[in-house]
Amino acid sequence: MTNSVPNRFTRSCLSVLASLALLGVSATPERQLAAPRAAVGLEDSLAMPPVLQNISRVPGTVEVNLSAAPARLALLPGHVTDAYAYNGTVPGPTLEVHEGDHVIIHFHNSLPEATTIHWHGLHIPAVMDGSPLSPIGAGKRYDYRFTIPRGTAGTYWYHPHPDARTGYQMAMGLYGAIIVRDANDPLPNSLPEKLLVLSDNRFRPDGSLDIPDPKSLQGQIDRENGREGNVLLVNGQVMPVIGIRSGEVQRWRVINVSAARIYRLAIPGQTLLHVGDDGGLFERPREVGEILLANSERVEILVRGTGSPGSKTTLQTLPYDRYDPHTRPASWQDTLDLLSLRYSDASPMTPPALPSVMRTVAALDTSRASARRVIVLSQELINGKTMDMNRVDIRSRLGATEIWEIDNVVTMDHPFHLHGFQFQILDRDGIPEPYRSWKDVVNVRKHQVVHIVVRFDDFPGKWMFHCHILDHEDHGMMGILEVRPPLTRRRL
Ligand code: C2O
Ligand code: CU
Ligand code: CU
Repeated sequence: MTNSVPNRFTRSCLSVLASLALLGVSATPERQLAAPRAAVGLEDSLAMPPVLQNISRVPGTVEVNLSAAPARLALLPGHVTDAYAYNGTVPGPTLEVHEGDHVIIHFHNSLPEATTIHWHGLHIPAVMDGSPLSPIGAGKRYDYRFTIPRGTAGTYWYHPHPDARTGYQMAMGLYGAIIVRDANDPLPNSLPEKLLVLSDNRFRPDGSLDIPDPKSLQGQIDRENGREGNVLLVNGQVMPVIGIRSGEVQRWRVINVSAARIYRLAIPGQTLLHVGDDGGLFERPREVGEILLANSERVEILVRGTGSPGSKTTLQTLPYDRYDPHTRPASWQDTLDLLSLRYSDASPMTPPALPSVMRTVAALDTSRASARRVIVLSQELINGKTMDMNRVDIRSRLGATEIWEIDNVVTMDHPFHLHGFQFQILDRDGIPEPYRSWKDVVNVRKHQVVHIVVRFDDFPGKWMFHCHILDHEDHGMMGILEVRPPLTRRRL
């Protein structure tokens, strides 16, 4: 291979860096969290959310300032919209940490209403979970403090979780990504990394957010289906471009922050290497044609540049019928484009070697299960009840391993989420899960029965479990699990 191609590639990169410098944009991150990532395609228009700046000088400590406040932002090209934002951006800034880090978030609620920040998927003490039990009033400050457990490297996210207002506050723009890194990441550091925060929203012609009156017909349809919007955004952008070179392999972390939309992700003409989901990497990569990403789920995928130089393709979401037949929107069968993937003209590079084994995901021991529970999901109800903040629905003990059967008895999908603990899916409708992974949400399809196993290894307290369609959650499709300290440790 001659040197001409890499040289041309490098020169163009330098000129991009030079123009960024002219714009006053620093190409050097505030805090280098990982080895430098390789330069990526030159046509990228997909912007990454800013990374929260670490103000601590103590090694192993990440200390950041985060505010939630009203903002006027260009959420939709050509319009200014009254929104809510974390530190002024939608998506909010990304919290980047390493396993083992002590994290301090100085949060200031500058919203005209109470809120919380829930660290979705993180295994941290219950008082720091930002559940509806711990609201932070308008104008108030709160320091969230927790330690990132070892073995939890992966993609997570944060969002408000106030009682009955989560859907509204997220529609207004409050959500952001969390990336937990492993100092010994099994995937090569040279893979260019992309974060894709997938959201949708609905706007009125004047650019204001269309959040209907709950009593209106659309309000009632939203309450049933969950509110979907016709504008699809990746990191807040409509149809951005990711540049890729033939042969290159990119690592994408994808988060579904949509209130109700489920994505069935595919890139025509390519397969994907599915390498991880909610709680991090699998044991082995899985070659797939498409990936179903329900609300609040995350996936890590490796996108291999198998296309030819100069070609183009698209990341799409294919039709997926999660709806009750009575309220299913006519548009459900549409294939929608999310972003454009453009191959540079550079000749193909030699693809990097990828590991066939990434890590061990030890199976939770189902033979030690001390309880089997049945959780029945129906429309807006869990086990026939609406959420009551003063009621405990399930009592468990610290250290217990339990098998939960999640039984959807209605004609629409409900993505079931448990706070605080990662679980493993055992089977869906009796079909054993073909691979093992750590999950905090599982989409339970219409009339499906899913078994999961979970171990309450730490952190006593009250934990929410709920449907992650925000309209369902806000209308009480939620319950409370209390994990109590073992009897032997109780002081009399
Ligand atoms: Cu992401 Cu209780 O939720
Ligand atoms: Cu959660
Ligand atoms: Cu639901």
